[in-house]
Amino acid sequence: MEELAVKKHVKYILSAEKSKDDFASVIMEHLRMNGAYWGLTTLDLLGKLETVDTDEVVSWVMECQHESGGFCGNIGHDPHILFTLSAVQVLALVDRINVLDIDKVSEYIAGLQNEDGSFAGDIWGEIDTRFSYIAICCLSLLHRLDKINVEKAVKYIVSCKNPDGGFGSTRGAESHAGQIFCCVGALAITGSLHYIDKDLLGWWLCERQVKSGGLNGRPEKLPDVCYSWWVLSSLIMIDRVHWIDKQKLVRFILDCQDKENGGISDRPDDVVDVFHTYFGVAGLSLLEYPGLKAIDPAYALPVDLINKIFFSR
Ligand code: FPP
Ligand code: ZN
Repeated sequence: MEELAVKKHVKYILSAEKSKDDFASVIMEHLRMNGAYWGLTTLDLLGKLETVDTDEVVSWVMECQHESGGFCGNIGHDPHILFTLSAVQVLALVDRINVLDIDKVSEYIAGLQNEDGSFAGDIWGEIDTRFSYIAICCLSLLHRLDKINVEKAVKYIVSCKNPDGGFGSTRGAESHAGQIFCCVGALAITGSLHYIDKDLLGWWLCERQVKSGGLNGRPEKLPDVCYSWWVLSSLIMIDRVHWIDKQKLVRFILDCQDKENGGISDRPDDVVDVFHTYFGVAGLSLLEYPGLKAIDPAYALPVDLINKIFFSR
């Protein structure tokens, strides 16, 4: 079987971080905070986080903070809960959570909770179970879950459960593996996994594995490396990961590598990007691929970091 091209992927991530003018960087400009989280977590899982200039990362992240307390995708953009979680994750990765005004960030997030327990992504009010996960994950990392009504937040997520056992973006929306990760992750963090029918959801999730070994996000869709994360992490959280063929999935992810220039794509022979490189490496970490750090399926951060945050304060 092919091997993970660790050195090439490290080189690819480091060069993607530096080049600001190519096409991919231009379309990523407004998502730069997410890109920083994907890139730095990949480097950490590969054991190469020390190659990054921590001070440079921290000062750029802090320049992306808005007066509301939320973070923006890049300097001068609008704040959003999506970028706020990425900013907190990035600071946690480089061990600099201490630069944050934790109460200010927590109040920004808490201010996005609605009366029914759901969360908006920003001042414009779009509601999505992604935002419920982000709020819960972020406040948990900051030890500030008490700032929101967790009971109502859980109740709203449970109200988005579908008859097929899955979850969608809002009440009644189609089950989708990405949203399932968010709902299962939020329920795991809040100790509420008993609301899930694990056999029913486990069946829906393991049906996502197609002939090539890859996983898709919904019935009839093509397999995609990022679903190695969304599906696999959910299966692990509900204790049903033995229902898929792990070896075939490892092979599919390794087949999506650019062996010459590094990086991982969504499907074999497609163009690589930082997003799929991260989720490919994170998926392999969940599959216990040799030489990779373990990643936590609920927080999407390395297990050693999660242990440090929760057990050695
Ligand atoms: C699929 O998106 C993925 C989702 C809907 C889940 C996104 C989750 C977050 C942003 C929460 C933060 C995540 C982590 C790992 C900390 P897509 O737009 O690619 O879906 P498509 O395949 O249907 O186009
Ligand atoms: Zn994808």
